[in-house]
Amino acid sequence: MNNTTDTPINVIGLGRMGQALAGAFLKAGHPTTVWNRTASKADQLVAAGAQLAPTVGDALTAGSLTIICVTDYPAMYELLGAGDVALDGTTLVNLTSGDSAQARDAARWAEERGARYLDGAIMAIPQVIGTDQAVILHSGPQQDFEAHRSTLDALGTVTHLGADHGLASLYDVAGLAMMWSVLNAWLQGTALLRTAGVDAATYAPFAQQIAAGVAEWLPGYAEQIDSGSFPAEVSALETDAAAMAHLIEESEAAGVNTELPKLIKAMADRSIAAGHGGEQYPVLIEEFGRSRES
Ligand SMILES: NC(=O)c1ccc[n+]([C@@H]2O[C@H](COP(=O)([O-])OP(=O)(O)OC[C@H]3O[C@@H](n4cnc5c(N)ncnc54)[C@H](OP(=O)(O)O)[C@@H]3O)[C@@H](O)[C@H]2O)c1
Repeated sequence: MNNTTDTPINVIGLGRMGQALAGAFLKAGHPTTVWNRTASKADQLVAAGAQLAPTVGDALTAGSLTIICVTDYPAMYELLGAGDVALDGTTLVNLTSGDSAQARDAARWAEERGARYLDGAIMAIPQVIGTDQAVILHSGPQQDFEAHRSTLDALGTVTHLGADHGLASLYDVAGLAMMWSVLNAWLQGTALLRTAGVDAATYAPFAQQIAAGVAEWLPGYAEQIDSGSFPAEVSALETDAAAMAHLIEESEAAGVNTELPKLIKAMADRSIAAGHGGEQYPVLIEEFGRSRES
């Protein structure tokens, strides 16, 4: 496989993200063929040297590596499932956001039509595509990723997560869970402190320090989860639960929202009731690892 910047690339979908992807390939020197339903979105790329294909089918035949990035999976099926579109001989890298089941279904669908298929998730905004800040996750056959790795490198920091096509989407939502949890915790604290006249900007550096400190614990706590053993080396869950009660009381007294603190405490209380009060915080993985119905 030719992995130099001479490798031709096809990019289908030129929304905000697709334009950034095609632009990064062009900047890296790849002959880039583009197609978009609204053809005018290709104008700037064409001015920068891209070829505009008249149809999706034509775009797919320009080179053997095709990136697709459209709104959702149904849009991808609509485009690539058309009668005049041949996928055989193509490696299709789908950077459209979706869930893991959609990714696995799309892999089967594409492979039945003779394509090699890698799924992907973009954890970045268009403005940083083409820089190290752009984290792009891929999953699917390792050999297909390796065959195109140096080409995909033009997009940012690219990583292969494993052969299961669903992994990129799973990491994507896991990352979102992390992001929203950190932000929600910060908003809870900010709401509390504002009642005492402390503004968000004053609290933010302190919150940042706490978040960074807690992040340091993750590898060690992960070892506890993977080994299924949770000795209370730092503190016991029942000690944390007592502090959670303080957070609820403070929030109630200040007249701010208590939904999040109560949710966290309810999970800890269930774990303590199941006999885990003397173990360390990551024992809560057992609460997170099952649905409430089971
Ligand atoms: N923007 C971000 O910050 C960001 C970050 C991470 C991931 N993503 C993901 O990247 C994907 C694209 O996002 P975007 O920001 O580029 O969205 P966008 O600017 O709204 O562009 C959507 C693209 O999908 C095309 N499209 C939608 N439905 C179609 C259909 N039925 N047939 C043909 N083309 C169709 C649009 O074509 P037209 O131009 O003709 O409408 C356009 O090219 C999404 O899955 C998004 O979740 C985006």
